[in-house]
Amino acid sequence: MNYNIAVIPGDGIGPEVINETLKVLDRVAEKYGHRFGYQKLLAGGSAIDSTGVPLPADTVSACRSSDAVLLGAVGGWKWDTLPGDKRPEAALLGLRKALGLFANIRPAMLFDELASACPLKPEITEGGLDIVIVRELTGGIYFGEKGTKETDMGHAAYDVELYSEKEVRRIAVTAFEMAMKRGRKVTSVDKANVLESSRLWRRVVAEVAEDYPQVILDNLYVDNAAMQLVRAPRQFDVIVTSNIFGDILSDEASQITGSIGMLPSASLAEGNFGMYEPVHGSAPDIAGQDKANPMATVLSAAMMLRYTLGLSKEADDVENAVRSVLREGCRTPDLLEENRTGDIRTIGTEEAGTMIAARI
Ligand code: NAD
Ligand code: IPM
Ligand code: MN
Repeated sequence: MNYNIAVIPGDGIGPEVINETLKVLDRVAEKYGHRFGYQKLLAGGSAIDSTGVPLPADTVSACRSSDAVLLGAVGGWKWDTLPGDKRPEAALLGLRKALGLFANIRPAMLFDELASACPLKPEITEGGLDIVIVRELTGGIYFGEKGTKETDMGHAAYDVELYSEKEVRRIAVTAFEMAMKRGRKVTSVDKANVLESSRLWRRVVAEVAEDYPQVILDNLYVDNAAMQLVRAPRQFDVIVTSNIFGDILSDEASQITGSIGMLPSASLAEGNFGMYEPVHGSAPDIAGQDKANPMATVLSAAMMLRYTLGLSKEADDVENAVRSVLREGCRTPDLLEENRTGDIRTIGTEEAGTMIAARI
């Protein structure tokens, strides 16, 4: 089959991890007789530098006419002093909104091979970790009214957290559907003891739960959830939460699985369309040094094969190839554990990509 994939390398380590991911996809195409056409597009800091805006209109239209979007990361120190709507990150938010990507699926799995890279005690993670964070992605405080005003405490700024019942209902349905295919437990995370928007969230999630009697629903306040993720992470199956809480909890979850360089994500619209991006950012501190772990982006491409293109055998192959490289003891620097034992070899970004591709 032929597939048209919009590819946004972005900034910092974005182009490096995307290059390796395309190597892996090329190998999948070769093995299975597919054709992946890549349309490289500008967004973020690189788009600002060459076009003056973070999200050129033709990037959005090219994404709309593609089968799926693959994104590296955007952002960097160079653009950190620009106003909010002119920053690289505005491209990401703009793409999510324009493409209707309301459901961000962030699986956090602890690969057996990386058990010792997890900072938690072995008895806490015994039996493995397999959590999915379902993060609402096109609403909440990221997209609410914002501005500045004068107050009796001086100049002030505000961002409004607002959720409609419809927005909560559709993300809750996504989470319950996912739980039905997994461990049949949903933990809804909110701050309903303080926030009105969270009280609405909790009520709507409970209504949706009535349609899924086989699924256990648990409600946690976000402060407790953050604590439980390191205290007893095995209690979680599917976590459903708002845009900002999901952003924070997914970085926390990434660390307990070894490194943020391992965490993929899928941002899905109604239907099968999606944008696939690692959870990490552009990592300007290691950009251009062949140190970035490309596995989060490679695993995001595996999610693309599975969810949008319906190629589950190909997706399994990619995930198994990543596992093989880890099993052989090869690690990018983010995964090097202090008290490591056994035969471990440090590899760079390019070697990691080449090795994964060769194991497909
Ligand atoms: P970051 O995720 O880029 O980096 C945090 C830390 O993790 C850094 O020490 C970095 O070196 C390390 N790291 C991240 N990815 C790695 C990888 N693949 N391999 C090895 N180490 C890795 O977060 P930050 O430093 O807070 O943000 C940097 C820039 O990225 C900012 O401009 C931010 O807005 C942007 N950002 C973009 C996205 C995105 O495009 N999806 C996501 C998060 C942050
Ligand atoms: C993420 C990032 C983005 C977010 C930023 C870069 C806009 O942190 O995808 O997790 O906050 O959603
Ligand atoms: Mn984030």
